[in-house]
Amino acid sequence: MLSPAQLEDLFEKNEVRCPECKGRLGKVEEFNLMFKTSIGPGSSRIGYLRPETAQGIFVNYLNLYRYNREKLPLGVIQTGRAYRNEIAPRQGMIRMREFNQMEVELFVDPDNKDWERFPDIENETMKLIPQDGKEIMITVGDAVRNGIIANRVLAYFVYTTKQLMMSLGLDPEKLRFRQHLSDEMAHYAMDCWDAEALLSYGWTEITGIADRGCWDLSRHAEFSSVDLTHFRRFDEPREIDMDMVKARHKALGPKFKGRAKAIGEAIESKLPGNIRDGLLTVTVDGEEMQFGEEFFDVVRVKEKVSGERVVPHVIEPSHGLDRIFYSILEHAYSYDKKDDYVTLRLRPNVAPIKAGVFPLMDKDGLDVIARTIYEKLQTGGIESYYDTSGAIGRRYARMDEIGTPWCITVDYESIEEGANKGTVTIRDRDTREQKRIRADQVTEVISKLLSGTGIGAL
Ligand code: GLY
Repeated sequence: MLSPAQLEDLFEKNEVRCPECKGRLGKVEEFNLMFKTSIGPGSSRIGYLRPETAQGIFVNYLNLYRYNREKLPLGVIQTGRAYRNEIAPRQGMIRMREFNQMEVELFVDPDNKDWERFPDIENETMKLIPQDGKEIMITVGDAVRNGIIANRVLAYFVYTTKQLMMSLGLDPEKLRFRQHLSDEMAHYAMDCWDAEALLSYGWTEITGIADRGCWDLSRHAEFSSVDLTHFRRFDEPREIDMDMVKARHKALGPKFKGRAKAIGEAIESKLPGNIRDGLLTVTVDGEEMQFGEEFFDVVRVKEKVSGERVVPHVIEPSHGLDRIFYSILEHAYSYDKKDDYVTLRLRPNVAPIKAGVFPLMDKDGLDVIARTIYEKLQTGGIESYYDTSGAIGRRYARMDEIGTPWCITVDYESIEEGANKGTVTIRDRDTREQKRIRADQVTEVISKLLSGTGIGAL
């Protein structure tokens, strides 16, 4: 990373000017992207709004790890707000100071970065742009074998991010995965891939999938003095050399008398890594106490051990929900200039309204049948929209514009004697195809369609 002085130098040498007023640029300043605030009454406790939801998961890690019976891998998902003091919020939902994230922190054994279900997807292909900048189509398996993606677990989650985006309706032709350049990688990342969507703003990061290594748990352990390691059990016990903290009972006894034994045990429960600046902090009967090196030794001993402690590594798919939401809208939007007609081709699973329900005329009992269908859909958990106003074409157009996949129309054939009595039409937004189905089976049909593809399947 360049220093402010180096940047100023480069701006000067290359005569970089303000693109607006063409004037000289001001001084380069260090800038904290986190919002600072004070906690509670008064201003003594400083806090920062979280710049990523991830940190809440790391703070709760120990509890979550225990809930998982101290086993790895352990995956935790959280959605929530994150805040960044962006210098220039812009481009609508793309760069905001308050935004929504969905993050997965997957804690894995550092020496076993594999994933049981990797073989299921290793022959699938992805569009990747590795650090050399050249776009390639490659199978997930080859990307790992050729060292392009650091490990199988990271690759698995890069691929499942692609699957997720496609299931939400993103256009696969407008989706790619770009590896961070080494000077672009966050301080915590060992390898990182951005899912980028092609939008009217250009290629835009919507998700980052990073191997954060042991950075987070090591730093939280360091600053909280809490042991966040995982006990990895060996297949067979092994004899190993290890450093341990031994209390100097001869020094503790005279000074602490009746408490010396408890203090000695507390000291010996610590690891050499807990010693800070020559001091060991322990809690005895609720009292926090510090001991200098006159009260303990670090000794090398041979121990028969059944396992070892390791700091878990973290694989993190971090989804920018607002950006994904926006990408879904852009990729679904289609405008027919000739007819001045907008269709939002949302996949049914993300369409907010699944069905429009219309009586052709708001009378003659057509309204009663339509209302019954609408109410059944609603109580069946299928969000629907009842509309009686305007010509039927206008009602279809309203639904097409907001991405409603199907429309149900009750017409005169529904009530007149004949083969179609008791039926209604169902119209597909994308093909505009219409079929007749039984009025009393609308909820069932829409449910089936929601788990399938389109009314061609009927
Ligand atoms: N947690 C990664 C990020 O917010 O970018």
